Amino acid sequence: MTDVEIRPATEADLAAATEIYEHAVRYGTATFELIPPDLAEMTRRFKALMDGGFPYFVAAIEGRVIGYAYAGPYRPRPAYRFTVENSVYLQPAIHRRGIGARLLQRLIAECEARGYRQMIAVIGDSANAGSIGVHARCGFAMIGTHPNVGFKFGRWLDTVMMQRALGDGAATLPVAS
Ligand SMILES: CC(C)(COP(=O)(O)OP(=O)(O)OC[C@H]1O[C@@H](n2cnc3c(N)ncnc32)[C@H](O)[C@@H]1OP(=O)(O)O)[C@@H](O)C(=O)NCCC(=O)NCCS
Repeated sequence: MTDVEIRPATEADLAAATEIYEHAVRYGTATFELIPPDLAEMTRRFKALMDGGFPYFVAAIEGRVIGYAYAGPYRPRPAYRFTVENSVYLQPAIHRRGIGARLLQRLIAECEARGYRQMIAVIGDSANAGSIGVHARCGFAMIGTHPNVGFKFGRWLDTVMMQRALGDGAATLPVAS
């Protein structure tokens, strides 16, 4: 397969990320957003992640961005500060070629290097076999399902919670408090 480059995202990548996410919002149930955010909003979100010290990666083939993954705060209250929530999205045409797993592995390694201790995936739709599968492949355990908490495309949707420890997890105390 053509070489896939995984690298940190820059603002120049956000037009492609906006397009990829727009498709997921319009046609998919992985995200519970109903209106696709525009480039300005995706840029605002990107900057908030950068300012907060969170990683954001893209996957590119021959210079063209075909996927992205980032980590952000799981919840805003400060005791959650060593826990991140992840997101990963690819162009539909290149699903199931190992690229999602590579993006997620890179994100996990970077979050470990930055001292985070737990990563949580909140997966829209218990029928989302691709997302559940890629997280299981990357070491996430199934925590459980929140049944019928979303409503999109005229039907009720579950969220599936998966989680993996990062680095020492809870075996040691964090370096910074
Ligand atoms: C979820 C997503 C990022 C996965 O990326 P991907 O590149 O397609 O997944 P990979 O090829 O890396 O798959 C890794 C493993 O996950 C599992 N997997 C991936 N897709 C699967 C599917 N459709 N059904 C079952 N298992 C699947 C498999 O175990 C696979 O390994 P294998 O192909 O060697 O069997 C991608 O499908 C996507 O963008 N989906 C739409 C958006 C989305 O759901 N994002 C997640 C939000 S939480």
